[in-house]
Formats: sequence, C-alpha cells, structure tokens
Amino acid sequence: MTVLVTGATGHTGRHVVAGLQAAGVRPRVLVRDRAKAPDGVDVVQGDITDTAEAAGGVDAVYLLWPFVTSDGIEKALKPFEGKKIVYLSAMSAEHGGVWGDVEAAVRKVTGDWTFLRVTGLATNALAWAEKARTGVVRAPYGQAKRSVVHERDVADVAVKALTGDHKGQSYLVTGPEPVAQAEQARLIGDALGRPVTWEEQPPEEAKAQMSAYLGAEFAAAAVDYWASLVEAPEPVSPDVARVTGHPARPFAEWAREHFS
Ligand SMILES: NC(=O)c1ccc[n+]([C@@H]2O[C@H](COP(=O)([O-])OP(=O)(O)OC[C@H]3O[C@@H](n4cnc5c(N)ncnc54)[C@H](OP(=O)(O)O)[C@@H]3O)[C@@H](O)[C@H]2O)c1
Repeated sequence: MTVLVTGATGHTGRHVVAGLQAAGVRPRVLVRDRAKAPDGVDVVQGDITDTAEAAGGVDAVYLLWPFVTSDGIEKALKPFEGKKIVYLSAMSAEHGGVWGDVEAAVRKVTGDWTFLRVTGLATNALAWAEKARTGVVRAPYGQAKRSVVHERDVADVAVKALTGDHKGQSYLVTGPEPVAQAEQARLIGDALGRPVTWEEQPPEEAKAQMSAYLGAEFAAAAVDYWASLVEAPEPVSPDVARVTGHPARPFAEWAREHFS
C-alpha cells in the first residue's frame, strides 16, 4: 500500500507519518524542502499545487490544503482521481469557505473520501508562546470556549482512515471538552511553572493584525467566530474515541507536552 502524506513536516502530518510507520506502512511524503523530510519515508520534493509526480501509484493521500482560498485545488487534485483522499478539513466546511470548497472539489474526483472536520487545532495556542513566556497573553475573547484537538488525535484518526474503510465519513474531530481561551493560557502557565494571565485585546485590533497574514476577510471571520463562542461553546464529538479506541487528549496534556 502506498500512502502519500502532504504537510509531513507540519503538526499533524509528522504524526501521520509516525502512525503509518507504526502500522507497518512506509509513507511517501511531498515536501518543499527535502532536508526537512522525516526519516524512514520515500521523498518527493515539490509543491502541493503540483502533485503529479507525488501522486503516481499512490493508493491513498493525507491531504492538507495550507491556503486560505481554494484557488488551484482542481489542478492539485486531478492526479488523485479515484484514489482515497483523507482531507484535514474544518467544522465550518458545512458553511462553505475554503474547507467547504476543498471538500466539494474532493468529492468531484473520488468517491473514496474521508473528511476530518476539526473544530480547532490546539497548536493554534503556539501563536501565544512568546507572550506566554512573558506572563501575559493578549488576544481577543478570552471567554471563547473552544474544544481544540491535539494534533496527535487528528493524526490517529487520519491513520485509521488511511489504513481502514472509512469511505464517505465526515468525522467531527474535537478535544474532550470546551476550554476557554483564557483557561488555555492559564494551563500553559501551569506547564511553564509560572502564572500566565489573559489580557483582552480589542477585536478590531486583532483583526487588523491578523489581516497581514490571513487577509482581511479570513481574519474578520475568525475573530467574529471566537466572539460567538463566548455564549455558545464549540461542540464536543465522540468521533476521536469512536475511530481510534482512545479518548481525545485534554488540553492540559497538550500544554505539558509543548511548554514543560
Ligand atoms: N488551525 C486550525 O484550527 C485549523 C482548523 C481547521 C483546519 N485546519 C487545517 O489544518 C491545516 C494545518 O495543518 P497542520 O497544523 O498539520 O500543518 P502546519 O503545522 O500548519 O504545517 C503546514 C504544512 O503544510 C506544508 N506546506 C505549506 N505550504 C505548502 C506548499 N505550498 N506546498 C507543499 N506543502 C506546503 C508545510 O511544509 P513546509 O515545511 O514546507 O512549510 C507544513 O508541512 C491548515 O492548512 C488548515 O487547512 C486548521
């Protein structure tokens, strides 16, 4: 079985690679920089927008689309026609956006798809790392309650989907409980062994900052979404436990792994 892992140097992809290896599958990876490829894999150097070489002879692909628009997705997916595609998507895909557009494009090229719709990745909190070390995280909506998921749990679900029959399944991939963003910062402080407090940042200031790397539309949608989570926390799904056989890892465990 030949399984291609895209994003293999990233947070979820590196664990997908390790999980496949543990399951006895030698993965192929598509990486932009050969020097960054993990050990024990077959390497194709290239960009996700040009997948022809990487897709040759593969049975299945772990797909992430690292852009905020779906421009170019049709060309990138064409070489995977009829193959199994396990796509790292988002809960918001049901409302369209980039994840909804990529899901629609995947459905057009294959019937053998599995969508891992995550609420949010715990790794988003790495953006606070520098501030956390100074003792204060300044960001908007500390009371937004997010059921963020450990990247290892995403990878565990992905490996099951890549190696088993999960055709046509959209899994909601979440952490085990909603945790307010300010509480996430506090738990990072516990892991660091010193207090970390939360300082509310005006939403418009955050949007302006985030626009620089996400674009104005995407940044505004993200911040407005966090606002909605103050009253209505993100859902918690049983899918990680159902698919992997183990419970989703709590945020406190994620924080200890990344900040102790
Ligand atoms: N953050 C969230 O809460 C959230 C929620 C829902 C869905 N997602 C999805 O999760 C994805 C991120 O997954 P992740 O955390 O596992 O990855 P990540 O740690 O953000 O790393 C991105 C990966 O994509 C690779 N990459 C970037 N641009 C590329 C290109 N042009 N061609 C080939 N590879 C490229 C990077 O490789 P290099 O080493 O070459 O940079 C890296 O391996 C996002 O793109 C998003 O679609 C995220």
